[in-house]
Amino acid sequence: MTRAAILGTGGIARAHAEALKNLGVELVAAADIDPDRLGAFCVEHGIARSYGDAGELLENEELDFVNICTPPSTHAGFILQALSAGAWVLCEKPLCGSLADLDRIVAAERETGGHCASVFQWRFGSAGQHLKRLAGAGALGKSLVGLCQTTWYRDADYYAVPWRGRWATELGGVTMGQGIHAIDLFLWILGDWTEVTAQVATLDREIEVEDVSAALVRFQSGAVGAILNSVLSPHQETYLRFDFQRASVEVRSLYSYANQDWQCTPAAGFEAVRDAWEEIPADPPASHEAQFRAFLESLERGEAPPASASEVRPTLEFISSLYKSGAKGAPVPRGSITPGDPFYRHVAGTLAEAAAATSGPGLSPPKSLE
Ligand SMILES: NC(=O)c1ccc[n+]([C@@H]2O[C@H](COP(=O)([O-])OP(=O)(O)OC[C@H]3O[C@@H](n4cnc5c(N)ncnc54)[C@H](O)[C@@H]3O)[C@@H](O)[C@H]2O)c1
Repeated sequence: MTRAAILGTGGIARAHAEALKNLGVELVAAADIDPDRLGAFCVEHGIARSYGDAGELLENEELDFVNICTPPSTHAGFILQALSAGAWVLCEKPLCGSLADLDRIVAAERETGGHCASVFQWRFGSAGQHLKRLAGAGALGKSLVGLCQTTWYRDADYYAVPWRGRWATELGGVTMGQGIHAIDLFLWILGDWTEVTAQVATLDREIEVEDVSAALVRFQSGAVGAILNSVLSPHQETYLRFDFQRASVEVRSLYSYANQDWQCTPAAGFEAVRDAWEEIPADPPASHEAQFRAFLESLERGEAPPASASEVRPTLEFISSLYKSGAKGAPVPRGSITPGDPFYRHVAGTLAEAAAATSGPGLSPPKSLE
């Protein structure tokens, strides 16, 4: 039986434990610094061994893989530890807080032969997979225009959790924390992006990180996209729209989607595209379980899993470039953030450094693991 452990037993850990159970994985241990939460979680999910120190768990347990569900700033360190202990990794978004750390993780994958995947469950719904196949096969014609909207609502209570709302611990605001799911799907479907121009602002929450961002993106294909992220929107929705030469494909939902949330509208003369769209396999909806199933198949075959660290690099590079464009007020071309650039050391570069310089004691400055 495949053996796994969970680091961090808070809000999202339940989705991990339930998906692992449904997929027949043996959950042998869990770790959390909060003993009450850890104890209750282990009882609820029938987990035999618990650790107050995640490093100790990784030293003592023989695991096929580790699920990381701790706050964002802890991810990179735990990923590197788990890989060097011989385990593969399924880590919650964001995988890490800088291109520097991402490149370190990819190097560790090469050295250890292990693999690390980022949880991006929006890629794994039946409709998302179907759209990727149709677009890749050219069945929809060229991609021309796209919209990617994450307009959610998060109040002051949400930001009362100490790790949230700070560059050093949440690693970003609405772009990195909420919009990242739709952004990742948008970029994955539309292919290589080449340039981003953005606005980043904190308008109405008492937080260090941004509560709104907006970006224009150009793609290698020539397509143009607009991205809007907000945690200030009382009418919440996630909306993605892909206009190809032969059809518009749209999804309107909130935290997940099923096939029924999608719509395909063929252009005049291209009605056959609707038939191709309707060949969509039955759900799964976008879910942790759908991604974990694909991860387990890769583990079984010993191959890099989908949404592996190197596969999601374009998304982290895009978000780094979005923050840089917002900070500089200028377009940022793909490939221009290299070692030595503050936006290579932290996804929010100078924005994070300026906040750290004024935030006083108790908040360590943003830095990569080096
Ligand atoms: N994929 C999704 O849809 C989704 C949804 C929600 C959250 N997330 C991500 O999951 C992660 C966790 O979010 P959450 O909402 O569950 O947070 P949470 O605060 O509810 O849970 C985090 C847990 O980690 C524990 N922890 C903190 N530091 C630790 C350490 N050093 N060692 C061990 N345990 C430690 C905390 O005590 C807490 O129990 C974040 O990265 C978040 O972005 C993803």
